[in-house]
Amino acid sequence: MALAFSPEANDQIDAILKRYPTRLAALIPVLFVAQRTFGYLSSEAMELVAARLDLPPAQVISTATFYTMFNKKPVGRYHVQVCKNISCYLRGADEVTSCLSEKLGVRPGGTTPDGAFTLEEVECLAACGRAPVVQVNEQYHEWQTRESAAALVAELREKAGAKGGGV
Ligand code: FES
Repeated sequence: MALAFSPEANDQIDAILKRYPTRLAALIPVLFVAQRTFGYLSSEAMELVAARLDLPPAQVISTATFYTMFNKKPVGRYHVQVCKNISCYLRGADEVTSCLSEKLGVRPGGTTPDGAFTLEEVECLAACGRAPVVQVNEQYHEWQTRESAAALVAELREKAGAKGGGV
């Protein structure tokens, strides 16, 4: 079956289009709608966005592949991203990553077998003054330490269990 936006996603896109002067200007927020809807931006999802906005597919693909916040492959329901850039590195990001990796049982770049968590190291998350920073889905967790990272995993595991594995 061909990929399609849900009625809710279509309503969100209509609302976005009213706020932006051109369809091109609305591209990034619409890509976020597609990512939330489908979990990641597959080729089909990018083509759907192009068709919905009446933009050339190459324009959509080049934008989606330029920005690291768009996932081009499936990720876990909890996408755990640790900043590895200079401020976070100097304030112990490696220790935080190592703790997350131990607690989740996956190396950076990996996804847990149950599909609940993907751990990734990423470039600057633009919260350098509150380093080290971990982003889980769309939420930031700042000033992380080994201890707080361990507590974060415990909290996320509990949430995943409480919601039947959902976010
Ligand atoms: S260096 Fe980590 S948020 Fe900027």
